[in-house]
Amino acid sequence: MSARTGIRQFHRWVSMIFTLTVIANFVAMARGTPPAWITYAPLLPLALLLITGLSLFALPYVERRTARRASAASNPTSSASV
Ligand code: HEM
Repeated sequence: MSARTGIRQFHRWVSMIFTLTVIANFVAMARGTPPAWITYAPLLPLALLLITGLSLFALPYVERRTARRASAASNPTSSASV
């Protein structure tokens, strides 16, 4: 399994945990003032989603740059005209 597949899978499952914590907040609020641990429960999964989501966004650009550098290193004459 590539790093990208692993991060995508993690992002997908954490998004479900995040959704459940948000639903729990709505349910708890309907019953009165929710305890602080329910109010703040979505923050950890949201932070994990932010980190993994930003890395999923950046990965294609990082991979493209790495591939361009690798091909320039193995074939230096191809970029000589620039
Ligand atoms: C907090 C900031 C977040 C960022 C920066 C972010 C970013 C991303 C990115 C870049 C992708 C990949 C898109 C692609 O290449 O096709 C993605 C996929 C996805 N995101 Fe997020 N996301 C965030 C939060 C969330 C939240 C809050 C949810 C849902 C509760 C969510 C659910 C998903 C799902 C289900 C996918 C598809 C995963 C897959 O293809 O297996 N994300 N996200």
